[in-house]
Amino acid sequence: MHAALTMKSLDAREFRNALSHFATGVVIATANCHGQLLGTTISSFNSVSLLPPLVLFSIARSALGLDLWRTADSYGVTVLAEHQTELSNRFARSGLDKFADLHFGAMDNGAPLFPDWLAYFECEPYARHDGGDHEIFVGCVTSFRYRPQTEVARPLIFFKGKYRSLASTDSIQSPPDLDVWLHAW
Ligand SMILES: Cc1cc2nc3c(=O)[nH]c(=O)nc-3n(C[C@H](O)[C@H](O)[C@H](O)COP(=O)(O)O)c2cc1C
Repeated sequence: MHAALTMKSLDAREFRNALSHFATGVVIATANCHGQLLGTTISSFNSVSLLPPLVLFSIARSALGLDLWRTADSYGVTVLAEHQTELSNRFARSGLDKFADLHFGAMDNGAPLFPDWLAYFECEPYARHDGGDHEIFVGCVTSFRYRPQTEVARPLIFFKGKYRSLASTDSIQSPPDLDVWLHAW
């Protein structure tokens, strides 16, 4: 059945509440789109494929920057650390002046890069798909970096509509180390 029809019988608030039980990290997707800087806080980031190396995120059709995002010939995704809630809030606001008075660097492809990243991915557009009231951007990763394990840095977590921190970076019981866990990095 079409999603819009199904939603008639689903309570939208309850649907959001249920979805909020899926804990995610927080990233900021950025691009230098022909001189116009774009930045959007994103929780819908996910891994897709190893070969080719693909990631995805979805952007609301109501986002002011959507038309520019569609024209970006490269972009980047910065994975935020626990202390970067203010940065996350800044890039969750609508508007084109999000970079004003902000200190930031650049990825090799020109996409804005924020200090203290946990990891970042440089991407080229691979595909765009209909995602209902969102548009799904699939990016092909051309380059990436992540923090060495020796540096203790905790991710920013988004769960039940609030920012959270990891109580500990100790692992609890982990999946068995088997080749069958193809999608469980
Ligand atoms: C933690 C968090 C996660 C978010 N995740 C998404 C997301 O995955 N997709 C999205 O379209 N908006 C998401 N948003 C909202 C966007 O960041 C916000 O609507 C966007 O920055 C507006 O940009 P605009 O200037 O293009 O309108 C999220 C906001 C927060 C605080």
